[in-house]
Amino acid sequence: VEIRREDYTPPDYLIETVELRFELDAETTLVSSRLALHANPDRVGRAPELRLDGEELKLISLQLDGVELAPERYRVEEKHLVIPDPPERFILEAVTEISPARNTALSGLYVSGPMLCTQCEAEGFRRITYFLDRPDVMAVYRVTLVAPKSKAPVLLANGNRIETGELPDGRHYATWLDPFKKPSYLFAVVAGDLVALNDRFTTMSGRKINLELYVEQKNLGKCDHAMASLKRAMRWDEEKFGREYDLDTYMIVAVDDFNMGAMENKGLNVFNSRYVLASPETATDDDYQAIEEVIGHEYFHNWTGNRITCRDWFQLSLKEGLTIYRDQEFSADMQSRPVKRITDVRLLRSSQFAEDAGPLAHPVRPDAYLEINNFYSMTVYHKGGEVIRMLATLLGPDGFRKGMDLYFERHDGQAVRVDEFVQAMADAGGRDLGQFMRWYDQAGTPVLTVTDHYDAATRSYQLIVEQSCPATPNQPEKKPFHLPLAMGLLDRQGRELPLRLSGETGGDSRSRVLELREAQETFTFTGVPEKPVPSLLRNYSAPVKLRYDYTEEELVLLMTHDSDPFVRWEAGQVRAGQVILDLVADRQQGRGMALEDSFVAAFRTLLTDAKQDRAFLAEALTLPAESYLAEQMEVIDPDAIFEAREFVRATLGTRLAAEFQQTRAACAPSGPYRPDDGLSGCRRLRNLCLSYLMAPGSQPAIDAAFGQFRSADNMTDSIGALMPLAGCDCPERGEALRMFYEKWKGDRGVVDKWFTLQATSRLPGTLSEVIALLDHPDFEFTNPNRVRSLVGAFSQSNQVRFHDASGAGYRFLADQILKLNTINPQIAARMVTPFSRWRRFDAKRQEMMKKELERILAEPGLAKDVYEIAAKSV
Ligand code: ARG
Ligand code: ZN
Repeated sequence: VEIRREDYTPPDYLIETVELRFELDAETTLVSSRLALHANPDRVGRAPELRLDGEELKLISLQLDGVELAPERYRVEEKHLVIPDPPERFILEAVTEISPARNTALSGLYVSGPMLCTQCEAEGFRRITYFLDRPDVMAVYRVTLVAPKSKAPVLLANGNRIETGELPDGRHYATWLDPFKKPSYLFAVVAGDLVALNDRFTTMSGRKINLELYVEQKNLGKCDHAMASLKRAMRWDEEKFGREYDLDTYMIVAVDDFNMGAMENKGLNVFNSRYVLASPETATDDDYQAIEEVIGHEYFHNWTGNRITCRDWFQLSLKEGLTIYRDQEFSADMQSRPVKRITDVRLLRSSQFAEDAGPLAHPVRPDAYLEINNFYSMTVYHKGGEVIRMLATLLGPDGFRKGMDLYFERHDGQAVRVDEFVQAMADAGGRDLGQFMRWYDQAGTPVLTVTDHYDAATRSYQLIVEQSCPATPNQPEKKPFHLPLAMGLLDRQGRELPLRLSGETGGDSRSRVLELREAQETFTFTGVPEKPVPSLLRNYSAPVKLRYDYTEEELVLLMTHDSDPFVRWEAGQVRAGQVILDLVADRQQGRGMALEDSFVAAFRTLLTDAKQDRAFLAEALTLPAESYLAEQMEVIDPDAIFEAREFVRATLGTRLAAEFQQTRAACAPSGPYRPDDGLSGCRRLRNLCLSYLMAPGSQPAIDAAFGQFRSADNMTDSIGALMPLAGCDCPERGEALRMFYEKWKGDRGVVDKWFTLQATSRLPGTLSEVIALLDHPDFEFTNPNRVRSLVGAFSQSNQVRFHDASGAGYRFLADQILKLNTINPQIAARMVTPFSRWRRFDAKRQEMMKKELERILAEPGLAKDVYEIAAKSV
């Protein structure tokens, strides 16, 4: 059944307090609940019937106001417990039985390694006990955990530990009280054999908070970075948003089996261990970075998500888009802001744009779903984050901060909609944001087409901006968006010109934000001495596709002179994209490929520019990804894209070999690795040089890579060498992969990397290797990280091999999806997305991909998660 946003009605009943008692055991856990319920005064009409959600539960007993309920007074349905005629106010007590060990879906209470843990967002709580499992039902929880002390010395739940004690038969218990009302999706318990890293944080008002990071004993040495990140995040939220932590203890638990990245449960975050554990030997600079980001993200949810939560799941971006924006800003303040913006835009354009362009396109606030877990999407999260960023740009830093303050002031403790958030922004900024709401309602990536006209006689310059947005499922026509277009104008020497619109007096700004609201608008600048080069969409001020016909010279001017680092980077990407796509056309038409000298020269200039920040340089010297190039083709030709891009890499690697060697040498480490030594940009650039040198496949480069692989004292440089080796048809490849596995076979996170390196190798034999790796003793279908590291990496990060013309890649993926369907539907559904892009390929590939989608849809017992994605795709 499809759930539709417009069908929302308030809950018929509310729950004031929840008391839970867990008799924990992996095979069979008993859950006793005591709920204080009452009819909702705001309900629509009379609602005698109480319908509690419940899945995969065995009901043992049921009492209403202390009296066992007679069988004719309730009904157990497949997904509900129905009490047809309860009183206005009553206590309901239920005992249910669940089996954590058999819960391979990893939603609800499940086993991960030496512990029992929970994941309740979005609708996992109903797999623990019967409940009104919806975010607008908020209650105070009191939770008692009982378990054998030897198996589970640590017993954790949300809030404060108020009682502990010993019980007969070697059991013990702990009781927790969370004083903050919360929706069920923020509930969490963890029980197991864990140890903690402890620390303290003093808030801006002087309160002392205990910080506790729980891991398996063997991982205790890998927690320092996560803890340091947490403290930085806590300080940052105080400084930037005036938000202080509210409980006495903040707990984080790392678990190996987790469907997503992490979860912001009140006072007790549960994390995928890959976003907690790090040591120089096992984690790359990117891993360190991702940990800081996710730790920040979950921490920031305490205010944007927990204190103020969502009324219903259609409002998911209320907390996720906003929290993505907050974690992006946090990371930007902790590292290089321009480089952070570039990596965020790269992700948006490669993943979210593709989603927006296909059959799964949906608005930031979706209108309907079958399975809400399918809407934890790039659009809801990352486009949602861009929407918040546009508000910040439109209102300016002070206006945005005022809007945030007003939002917290008005809605603390409530479950609200996106509308309430935008209204707070509108009221604080004194602005009409009615049209802006279209960003939440209309799917699709808008296209801005810019043309211009210079009139020398009047020294005036016109920018003509047209916006349009392609049709998306159920949305054939789109209305224009309200968006900020940050821009500047450069003269032909690359100097920034003052920006004065006709009718304005004074003003000497060299960068400004134009606001677009119409399908077509003209902006006329006066006092412009010569035909300028427009610098458009500075800092990527809106999530749109920009079309402006730049000449090669203009792009080089922007690349070398613009004051905005994003525009400098983007000009280089546009230029590289043109060059590669021209070569794709040459290749398709059977013409030989040749790289223009001017491109090599511009690349050389950049590479040898000692003044450039190295992290930025590494971004600027990275060619657009195959997937991003694919997005720009009418009919995607994965082979031609791969070959053209490789040709450019190999040609650059050959013609600029001396320069790459010099830069690589200049970036060589001078001491032992430290993740926070400020040299991550240097390492990235050095490893990028190595990958260019490796592209032509010369023996000296292979030797250099193998040498680096063997001598590296850190995972960044080890992977930096192993990645090009894994893509090289040379004996050193097998040797290095073997050595790597032997060294790291006991470390889950590193073994994931080992699987991914092989799955993403562009060598022609990759699919057979991937199929063989399914039988590797370390491969497990029940561990999401492992599935992603092999099946996900191959199908989502190896375009040319996945789309092999034989269709073997497609058959492989469909086979794995059908296996995962019964084990973990959420993960299975995520694996279907590559098939959703079938319309973008040639007729033969279309045919083969559709056939696999139909095979999936024909599977008996298909989970609705998988069904929804497959059915919408086909
Ligand atoms: N709220 C979590 C986060 O963004 C994501 C959890 C989603 N989990 C799920 N199974 N849908 O940090
Ligand atoms: Zn989140």
